[in-house]
Amino acid sequence: MSTNKVQIFDTTLRDGEQVPGCKLNTDQKLVIAKRLDLLGVDVIEAGFPISSPGDFNSVVEISKLVKNAIVCGLTRANKKDIEAAAESLQYAVRPRIHTGIGTSESHIKYKFNSTPEKIIERAKDAVKYAKTFVEDVEFYAEDAGRTDNEFLARICEVAIKSGATVLNIPDTTGYCLPEEYGAKIKYLKENVKGIDNVILSCHCHNDLGLATANSIAGVQNGARQIECTINGIGERAGNTALEEVVMILKQHPYLNLDTNINTQLLHSTSQLVQHHMGISVQPNKAVVGENAFAHSSGIHQDGVIKNRGTYEIMNPEDVGVNESSIVLTARSGRAALAYRAKKLGYELTKIQLDIVYPEFLNYADIKKEVENEDIHKIIEASKVFINRIVA
Ligand code: KIV
Ligand code: ZN
Repeated sequence: MSTNKVQIFDTTLRDGEQVPGCKLNTDQKLVIAKRLDLLGVDVIEAGFPISSPGDFNSVVEISKLVKNAIVCGLTRANKKDIEAAAESLQYAVRPRIHTGIGTSESHIKYKFNSTPEKIIERAKDAVKYAKTFVEDVEFYAEDAGRTDNEFLARICEVAIKSGATVLNIPDTTGYCLPEEYGAKIKYLKENVKGIDNVILSCHCHNDLGLATANSIAGVQNGARQIECTINGIGERAGNTALEEVVMILKQHPYLNLDTNINTQLLHSTSQLVQHHMGISVQPNKAVVGENAFAHSSGIHQDGVIKNRGTYEIMNPEDVGVNESSIVLTARSGRAALAYRAKKLGYELTKIQLDIVYPEFLNYADIKKEVENEDIHKIIEASKVFINRIVA
């Protein structure tokens, strides 16, 4: 499909919830699903309905609640899984069944003790059976990242002929390099009959920290759906982070690819997921980390105060953060001190700043971060004088 819109398939509630100790109850899943719908994701993978009665029930309730996004349920390539998914999705306005099977040599040999031909048959049967319940069927070729491209193309072609509307090409183990993953997508685009009538999807894991780069390589080579999670949570080292791929596409307009995401909700959505899952993202996490728009070294602070673009490639407001922060530490310079003092009502002249700055450094060497009340104390105690701007 030649469109510049990249569909965002959120799997926070399925692959994301596979994080050890992060089990969500149905009420929490409903809160997150409602927020994902508001955020503008195109697909919500609500769960793996056969896996437990709780997960089944969550998919039912999410299906009733969600009004805009497609609601999707995961299955393995067998009838029972597919029937459970179909039943759990019966109230969805736009239901999708996500079915598939492992396609790499190691999956075929060790996981299934099977043969490539038998795996192709199971894929065909699963897609055809899912198709008897819903129109929208996504097929995944698990461990596609390590699957031989010729075999992958064969199984994709069979899935299309059987009625698949979306083909998911997971780098399940996070092993691919971006060039390799991009080339895999390109190979499929060029060698699978009927490929232009379906959407190719990237589902990349982050075992080597390449999930985001691989997903972007995928869409640069013709994929039009990215499977991702809020904060990049998920099995082992996690999945592609939704906020990262969305902002990459937004900040690089020459790629000519965009999404339906309301980016101003990214920060609060990240906070909501952290709260319910009970895991905080690291402060230096791209886009949504606490330090993503914080500047602490003197050189950077001076640059940002003069012109934000000197050290920031995106506007914090675009992701729902009110403003960048200038953190006062022992690495901060006079520009940062003067900037903060001005915000607190003190217009310091150069001479006054020269007097106050050494005392500021004394504070900063003792404290990790100098706070507003410290600044008040330092300036008032120094008895320099000082034109207060505001009373
Ligand atoms: O990583 C993976 O291969 C998956 C599939 C089940 C889609 O999560
Ligand atoms: Zn996965």
